[in-house]
Amino acid sequence: MDPGIDDALALYAALARLDVRGLATVAGNVELDRTFENGRQLLQLAGRQEVPVWPGSRSPLHFSLHTAPEIHGPHGMGAREFAEPASGQALKEAPWQAWPALWARESEPVHLIATGPMTNVAKLLWCLPDAAKPLTGITVMGGAIEGGNVTPTAEFNFYVDPEAADVVLAAPVPVSMVGLDVTWKARMPWSDVHRLAGWGAVGRLLADALGWYGRHGEAETTGLAVHDAVAVAAYAHPEWFTWEPMTLSVRADGQWRGTVVRVPARIPDRGPVQVAVDVETGPVLEWIMESVANLAQGLGS
Ligand code: RIB
Ligand code: CA
Repeated sequence: MDPGIDDALALYAALARLDVRGLATVAGNVELDRTFENGRQLLQLAGRQEVPVWPGSRSPLHFSLHTAPEIHGPHGMGAREFAEPASGQALKEAPWQAWPALWARESEPVHLIATGPMTNVAKLLWCLPDAAKPLTGITVMGGAIEGGNVTPTAEFNFYVDPEAADVVLAAPVPVSMVGLDVTWKARMPWSDVHRLAGWGAVGRLLADALGWYGRHGEAETTGLAVHDAVAVAAYAHPEWFTWEPMTLSVRADGQWRGTVVRVPARIPDRGPVQVAVDVETGPVLEWIMESVANLAQGLGS
């Protein structure tokens, strides 16, 4: 993840509902030092410092880093600046180095939910001796069959590192792609931002950050695109989404950088991914809010 405002909402929903075994941060919305610190701060605020955070890639595989401070704020959390550095020891090892050995020692397979540029995931797939064994699959927030939010045809996570995104869409494990096709539909109503403000420190952080994210006022009518939280909901409740198998690649050339293209299904070494093409907005947004409420109540707020 590249926290990032919607990454924060995604993390809190995941902490409330899933067995979060660890985080890897990546440069994307803001630089790696910031996303790494933000990941640790978000866990600390939720009283979950025991969840390990690994610092991942500082830049895409080939392109230079493209960030989005105008959307997520200079430090990635809207106007928020954390007064003190996050407490606890900061891991130094890269996730693609640490995780294969860690997973080899554990019996429980894992599922990756990737909500930033795919650089870490591509490197991990290259480092896993037998990719199929420890991974039950990868849920990816990224891409779009129709549309783009960086260019008319490219979504941010795939635009920042199109080569990595292409590697992930060819991964030898089940991949689910949750792109703008559904995250632009399941928008959080502005009224929910105000509800969050009443849910303790976690809710206030989210309300402030989402308020900043929607500060130009359009969100009061259109709602807020909380992309990454929708991806977590898609992993937890795939039944709320309509899925279509597609064999895909990601362009990295010129004006098509980050664009998802359909390729003939008979491409060797590139199986179909499950693409979310529709979503039941109501249950997804209620689940996200209920998740944060559960987390906040657990913190006594
Ligand atoms: O295009 C939306 C994606 O880009 C989200 O993951 C958001 O956090 C940004 O990283
Ligand atoms: Ca993100």
